[in-house]
Amino acid sequence: MKALILSGGKGSRLYPLTYTNAKQLIPVANKPVLFRVIEAIRDAGISDIGIIIGSGENGRRVQNAVGQGKRWGVDITYIVQEAPLGLAHCVIIAQDFLGDDRFVMFLGDNVIEGGISNLISDFRDSDHNCQIVLTPVQEPQHYGVAELNPDRSIKRLVEKPREPRSNLALVGIYMFDENVHSAVQAIKPSWRGELEITDAIQWLVEQDYNVHPYIHRGWWIDTGKPIDMLAANSKVLEELTPRVDGFVDKDSQVDERVFVETGAQIINSVVRGPTIIGKNTRIVNSYVGPFTSIYHDCLVEDAEIEHSLMLEHSQIIDVPTRITDSLIGRNVEMHHSELKPRALKVTLGDNSRLGLV
Ligand code: G1P
Repeated sequence: MKALILSGGKGSRLYPLTYTNAKQLIPVANKPVLFRVIEAIRDAGISDIGIIIGSGENGRRVQNAVGQGKRWGVDITYIVQEAPLGLAHCVIIAQDFLGDDRFVMFLGDNVIEGGISNLISDFRDSDHNCQIVLTPVQEPQHYGVAELNPDRSIKRLVEKPREPRSNLALVGIYMFDENVHSAVQAIKPSWRGELEITDAIQWLVEQDYNVHPYIHRGWWIDTGKPIDMLAANSKVLEELTPRVDGFVDKDSQVDERVFVETGAQIINSVVRGPTIIGKNTRIVNSYVGPFTSIYHDCLVEDAEIEHSLMLEHSQIIDVPTRITDSLIGRNVEMHHSELKPRALKVTLGDNSRLGLV
């Protein structure tokens, strides 16, 4: 079996972070979401992986960060999508790579509880032409939605229906055999101008191919928005096995749910987990609360932060207000200033968001 990871898109709902980084490379619990996807695929026993990237800067960033896949013992082939023409369009441009093999298609910004090994082995050993993953969600109108028959077979799949017929959303993990190549050629672009994979699967259903719905009962997060990034971060932090590889001084209180990476230092601080403190990051005279990930080479000094994501090489120094529910990018500096006038002085990128108290 092969795998196809979709890692294009502008990530506009995560601006400004995604002006300078691909959204799939934003770390959750200190590891880029895309790396988690590659590991899930590798753990399911697949080593031949195609990654769809955009033609712009973010595509190059993905290539630079992931490379040829040696680090994971997998082989990576990049396929460039010139314009965001839909998930089914990705299958069309990946046809040479995929050949007639069965494959899993995985959206590079999806995080799912428990990996995909069971899903893959079920599909590999089955005679299903396609397997989809469904899960109950609160707002199905934002997803592809499945309506099932009383015998749990698929009645109909609709992409982002205004009036959803069920609360079962299509998770961004799909498994196909070679018949999907006829399906993606048979469909027409949707109202949003994209070739929808949901329409391709609906075509398979209509042609009486065997499309198997798997209902996922754990958590699943599509990390499109800041709130989703924080939610994914919290879930993954809860699953981490904590370890202290760095240094904690005797004046600090660090509970047993905290992961302290190599070279990190915690000095005279309180850190409550689940939380991860990245390589060579220093926490000094500070409080770091639950559900926080601080990436490598950061400094938090005389400050308080919780339920937040902080990316590499950033500093928070002597900030009197506790920072919470926040996404802090790379090389960010937040510090107390004595310079007159006594006022808030900010340099915020385009589409930044600031919640003042
Ligand atoms: C895509 C699919 C949709 C699916 C969702 C899962 O939506 O079109 O069917 O439910 O991924 O993340 P998009 O992210 O393109 O809006």
